[in-house]
Amino acid sequence: MIAIYPGSFDPITNGHLDLIQRGSRMFDRLIVSILRNDAKEPLFSVEERTEMLREVLHVYPNVEVDSFDGLLVDHAAARSATVLLRGIRAISDYEYELQMALMNRRLGPQIETVFMMAHEAYSFISSRLIKEVFSLGGNITGLVPPSVESRLQARLQSKLKGVS
Ligand code: PNS
Repeated sequence: MIAIYPGSFDPITNGHLDLIQRGSRMFDRLIVSILRNDAKEPLFSVEERTEMLREVLHVYPNVEVDSFDGLLVDHAAARSATVLLRGIRAISDYEYELQMALMNRRLGPQIETVFMMAHEAYSFISSRLIKEVFSLGGNITGLVPPSVESRLQARLQSKLKGVS
């Protein structure tokens, strides 16, 4: 069974990583796919995010990294995936996730969305919050992989140099 775990991953957090680890034990193959046409003005380019994901995911032999444009269900069909994997942290995620899952079911009835509960240790974190806290000098150690923390540090420094 092939599953797709889609998202922005700007950047990958330990919450994503936990879900990927658990997902890799459930499915024969797990494809972590980055949305390309992201209107959210990402901090890291798709290429940088692909590199970051590969750096931390190369230890999982059945996990690969990809990116996609357009509809998720089309990407899933093109990759012969029958499952979309998503994480739910809190009840506030549920409404958005339900909407997406039902729309995706309508668009691609052969593809099933599977939800996993986020690990309680990471249920309060999001990529957005990580970026905000880090840019304000807060400690994010243990919430993202060390390689991601280094990249955030480098990006923050180059941004500061840009404004000075
Ligand atoms: O991690 P995110 O940013 O919440 O992921 C959102 C994502 C990438 C899963 C979602 O925006 C998506 O699937 N976009 C692709 C476009 C699409 O298929 N839209 C219709 C699905 S309801």
